Amino acid sequence: MATDTIETNLKENRVFKPSREFARQAHVKSAAQREALSKNAARRPEKYWEKQAAELKWQKKWKKTLEWKPPLAKWFVGGQLNVSENCLDRHLTGPRRNKAAIIWEGEPGDTRTLTYHQLHRETCRFANALKNLGVRKGDRVILYMPLVPEAAIAMLACTRIGAVHSVVFGGFSSQSLRDRIQDTKAKIVITSDGGYRKGKAFGLKQQVDDAVEECASVKKVVVVKRTDQTVGWHPQRDVWWHDAVEGQSAENIPIPLDAEHPLFVLYTSGSTGKPKGILHTTGGYLTVAASTARQVFDLKEDDVYWCTADVGWITGHTYVVYGPLANGATTFLYEGAPMHPGPDRFWSLIAKYGITIFYTAPTAIRAFMRLGDSHPQKHDLSSLRLLGTVGEPINPKAWSWYHTVIGGGRCPIVDTYWQTETGGIMISPLPGATPTKPGSATLAMPGIDAAVVDKNGKEVPNGKGGFLVIRKPWPSMLRTVYGDPERYKKQYFSEFGPKLYFTGDGARRDKDGYFWLLGRVDDVINVSGHRLSTMEVESALVAHPQVAEAAVVSIPHEIKGEGIAAFVTLRRGTEPVAATTKELEKAVVKAIGAIARPDKIRFTDALPKTRSGKIMRRLLRSVASGEAVSGDTTTLEDFSALTKLQEED
Ligand code: PRX
Repeated sequence: MATDTIETNLKENRVFKPSREFARQAHVKSAAQREALSKNAARRPEKYWEKQAAELKWQKKWKKTLEWKPPLAKWFVGGQLNVSENCLDRHLTGPRRNKAAIIWEGEPGDTRTLTYHQLHRETCRFANALKNLGVRKGDRVILYMPLVPEAAIAMLACTRIGAVHSVVFGGFSSQSLRDRIQDTKAKIVITSDGGYRKGKAFGLKQQVDDAVEECASVKKVVVVKRTDQTVGWHPQRDVWWHDAVEGQSAENIPIPLDAEHPLFVLYTSGSTGKPKGILHTTGGYLTVAASTARQVFDLKEDDVYWCTADVGWITGHTYVVYGPLANGATTFLYEGAPMHPGPDRFWSLIAKYGITIFYTAPTAIRAFMRLGDSHPQKHDLSSLRLLGTVGEPINPKAWSWYHTVIGGGRCPIVDTYWQTETGGIMISPLPGATPTKPGSATLAMPGIDAAVVDKNGKEVPNGKGGFLVIRKPWPSMLRTVYGDPERYKKQYFSEFGPKLYFTGDGARRDKDGYFWLLGRVDDVINVSGHRLSTMEVESALVAHPQVAEAAVVSIPHEIKGEGIAAFVTLRRGTEPVAATTKELEKAVVKAIGAIARPDKIRFTDALPKTRSGKIMRRLLRSVASGEAVSGDTTTLEDFSALTKLQEED
């Protein structure tokens, strides 16, 4: 970290109070009620979390709420529960039995609805199929799928038998998939013959075949038939989903699992090295998923809730599948691209299904905003009552557009700040209680002790920028980096000692104590709300035979929030030709996925470095975004490298 604190210049003074109508019907109805909740939770956090946990069904009650040996936490020790039982069986005895649990629409317009009864049935059948394929408690199962109901069914089926799922986003390359399979030593991969996006059927099976070639742990590949494309087939290893569930019983007893039993591993980028497998466990994770979904999205029995995330990301885990289903809500899933077949697809879906709660990312909002108001205005969006955002700070202009054009000025907006590692929302308005300010995620959730500190871990006064930390453990915190406990300590609990969790984000609080997120302070780039590490992109570039050295930095991007700029030095004697840029782009897409494709690649003879040989990314960031280079350049080894880059600009 280069600076003691972080400078901030954003000025935004508007305040939007929840309407009386909304507040009256909300779970948390006033700022005073929220404050009381937070105060009590701060005084006795364990009591607060016990109360949230008690909303779930436990097969055995816990003996100890928290065992905290910094930086290692265990929650609800001695307790046993089953996530799938909580998301399904619990809802089968009353009127929810025949309520839609999942409403799904595929990109071509085909639809499916699964009631709680039906989702339970399909989950049981697939759980039995998994057992039949040799999956046992604790085994790892990889999911590499389009957003079809089977993705949710597979996740729930894993939790039912105590298998640990790891969902790999379908947009990642076969190399990324291979790395994740190897890291988890998964026994089974669940995939499909493809999915639909932008009017075309894309494939997934070939990527799986390529990846699995180098993964000895994989015994079976289960394939969902979705597109009817021809796929390669390994008869010993591959099995169609429909064949696997054929004849399986619709009964499956959910096994009791320790609260600390691993629930899933989800990979995310860090500032150094390979992606980290973030491990979440059963009881604590579900407690936070369920309680935050209820409070932040104000879920009610008749809501049709749509979170647009893919299940390949943490948002898809917590707020597409587990949070809503644990609350017995109706969760809507859409398979395809937001702009297909026209720029109004999202708005037509909201009208068609009567979506009441809509949760998406600022990058999507900006993309829609650019296309103008006419597309949403063609549709009746009056069913909406609440809007949410996640993934990156939302700029006030996009916030206002979302509020006025999509929300008709009547829907509160919850700007939810959290991370893969936190498992659930950490900072957010409660829609009936918290006055919002465009661009601020407002206040820490009850039970969450978030603070902004200086480099010594000392809290900074309101108005001053600093580093965002969480000072007390919370139930859905990551438990470790899968297979690398040292990295867990180093990454999250070393910057400010073993008791303070460091988010990697900069923030400031205003005079009302509201949090304003200022972006990452490490080498993580946030592209369209998805995390990529500069390191990963650099390694992909350097792997190209002509590349000697590469440095990757973020640049502001109108739609994506941040884009990727790469500075590349070629080996001596090689000159970039027209095809080189294309080749390098391809190398990155192959190693990581299309999401990491650089927006700009610049060739340079030398990179600006410190005397100790560290690339000065701060300077490159300024060059890449066309700003004047400011700040300290005294440690720069060879000033001519920088001047040259600026001249070329
Ligand atoms: O930098 C923060 C940003 O996204 C990071 C977490 O990324 P990921 O683990 O992929 O999870 C994204 C979905 C939870 C954070 O460290 N971030 C997320 N939400 C916000 C945000 N930045 C500002 N405001 C937010 N609401």
